[in-house]
Amino acid sequence: MNWADGRVELVDQRQLPNRVKILKLKDHKGVAAAIKEMAVRGAPAIGVASAYGIVLGAKNLKDEKHLDEKFASIVEELSRTRPTAVNLFWAIARMKEIFEKHRHEGLRKLQQALLAEAHRIKQEGLEADKRLSRNGAKLIKEGDAILTHCNTGALATAEYGTALGIIKAAWQQGKRIKVLVAETRPLLQGLRLTAWELAQEGIPFEIIVDNAAGSLMQRGEVSRVIVGADRIAANGDVANKIGTYSLAVLAHHHKIPFYVAAPTSTIDPSLKDGSGISIEEREPKEVTHIQGIKLAPRGAKARNPAFDITPRFLITAIITERGIFRPARAIGKLA
Ligand code: MRU
Repeated sequence: MNWADGRVELVDQRQLPNRVKILKLKDHKGVAAAIKEMAVRGAPAIGVASAYGIVLGAKNLKDEKHLDEKFASIVEELSRTRPTAVNLFWAIARMKEIFEKHRHEGLRKLQQALLAEAHRIKQEGLEADKRLSRNGAKLIKEGDAILTHCNTGALATAEYGTALGIIKAAWQQGKRIKVLVAETRPLLQGLRLTAWELAQEGIPFEIIVDNAAGSLMQRGEVSRVIVGADRIAANGDVANKIGTYSLAVLAHHHKIPFYVAAPTSTIDPSLKDGSGISIEEREPKEVTHIQGIKLAPRGAKARNPAFDITPRFLITAIITERGIFRPARAIGKLA
């Protein structure tokens, strides 16, 4: 994701891997739509996108008339896009602080300050990813078969990746590893995006259907599971892509280490446990159709919760840029 010529440029992730189309967004409504429709997705990436969305909203203001109301409406529109990833609200809160600090300095100075903060959010995200990836790579052993879910790579973050960043870092350190990529129904972030990123890095991988995970664990073909997070409660419970909880239960049963990797911006200190995390329910059509093709019988109903909660006792460790928290409840030190 880049800021270029007064626009936000990002790869339209809905079209990957078959088409690499760059969206050039010129207003905050375009950014809000891109987040909601998942042209940009992944907790850290939507945080960065929302910050740049606010920059665009402020940039398009003609004058300072009704500045507070107009700014509030920009913020409101971006806040209403997706409810689960706390990084979105964390980035928006940072932008609001900048607004409060500079709102009396004239529009131009305010716009510059907002842009500088959005760049900082992106840069800090990148640095956090690299640090947490180095931390996590220490846990990866030569010959590991690592199962991952959804997409947690460059596409989902400020540029490097969290769970996938750890895999990349371990590979770059020369560890011979293999990645098992869970396809991640319904939107297939694993099959389409993680596989695309791993192929570009030259890291060996195999895609599996989500349902194959248990059987492969039973046969001893998985040595570790690493996933990302959308929100971590103060007690270490984790919200992540639907299917994460099932993988955690299976890993626990088979005594396979189950790691969650996330920057500290994914921690929500206001929630004492995972029960308070709002779970996004998306369109049933994402379940009944695949890439626009209807596969379910006409009129079939579907449920589409986009995330689930993994209780902390199923998590071996949470890996952040500020260290490895084992067991997961130790994350409370940061909350
Ligand atoms: O619905 P998505 O694709 O935005 O969900 C993404 C995930 O669940 C990721 O695992 C999470 O955001 C971490 S991305 C580093």
